[in-house]
Amino acid sequence: MATPVDTKKLRSLAFKVWSYKQGEMVSLMIHLGDRLGLYKALADSGFITAQALAEKTGYHPRWILEWLQGQAAAKLIDYQHPDQFQLSPEGNALLADEDNGTDFAGGAFTGGTPPDTIDKLAEAFKTGIGLSYEDLGPNAAHRTERMLGPWIKQALVPRIIPALEGVKEKLESGALVADVGCGGGLTLTTMAQAYPNSEFHGFDPNSHAIENLKKASANTGLTNIKAFAVGGENLPDSGNYDFILSFDCIHDMTQPMAVIKAVRQSLKPDGTWLIKDIRSHGDFEKNLENPLLAMFYGFSISACMSSAMSEPDGAGLGTLGFNPKVARQMTAEAGFSRFKEHDFGEAANLYYEVRP
Ligand SMILES: C[S@@+](CC[C@H](N)C(=O)[O-])C[C@H]1O[C@@H](n2cnc3c(N)ncnc32)[C@H](O)[C@@H]1O
Repeated sequence: MATPVDTKKLRSLAFKVWSYKQGEMVSLMIHLGDRLGLYKALADSGFITAQALAEKTGYHPRWILEWLQGQAAAKLIDYQHPDQFQLSPEGNALLADEDNGTDFAGGAFTGGTPPDTIDKLAEAFKTGIGLSYEDLGPNAAHRTERMLGPWIKQALVPRIIPALEGVKEKLESGALVADVGCGGGLTLTTMAQAYPNSEFHGFDPNSHAIENLKKASANTGLTNIKAFAVGGENLPDSGNYDFILSFDCIHDMTQPMAVIKAVRQSLKPDGTWLIKDIRSHGDFEKNLENPLLAMFYGFSISACMSSAMSEPDGAGLGTLGFNPKVARQMTAEAGFSRFKEHDFGEAANLYYEVRP
């Protein structure tokens, strides 16, 4: 006889399941608010009616009213009787202000995974072969940059680089720097402006991201950046880089060990490699304490593990796979002798300062 359904547990599980559907819908509304500049328009408005926000933005008042009421229902903006809405200072930091502070999250809401990518992901469960970042197309490269960018822009130069042994001084006097897995190269444009005496090289097999880096350097008039559309496996083994960075990407690589070895060969004997990777434990049960863990598995299947499995025999580390224990082991195996963990208080990431 089948185990009978416990009605109370069924209701509770149903609420959880529908909460995720609500999350999907609210995510889409956040994307529209970000894309249409609605949060930015709310930022300096105080309490405002739908009609006034429609006039301010030029959008249709009926659509604005539905969006505002939905945002108030989601408790993302404040509501005041009758028919007035406001974005709080905290809402501003998270949803409107991408140029100051490190809290901006609005850029992470991308409007969902395109249907053709979902079809390919479903297929990957049969074949085992996922999609590389190149396969995800130009929009994904832009979205990655917008999600990860605020922290890089606000924290890399003032907080992170000064915490590394001797790196700031080298960058100021003139160093050769590479970002391996640079994506759109926000680390490079940020550092190239701060350290004009140094030269910066970006390596990434994703041609869309490398195009974005080329455009960004041209737009900012920076002449100390070069971009290469190749993976880290193909780094020159010249041993002349002073400083290499790899942010949020080792766990995405099909052959991370080959890249780690290539970085070891390309660094000067007194060089530094700075890795940023996801804050996780080697132990699934310990990771379960993270209330946002399920989101990280979603990122993994839709992007990170998919990329790390995008070739036969891909290592498939995935979003949570390059934890401190694995990072320490793999870098030691590739011939690095020093490994220092840094916690800069970034919710999702830890940093590893690795030296030959
Ligand atoms: C999540 S993105 C991070 C991009 C960038 N570092 C940032 O923080 O915005 C991961 C990047 O790793 C790149 N990647 C994947 N395999 C790689 C490899 N073998 N060598 C270098 N980069 C690789 C992807 O193309 C993608 O641009």
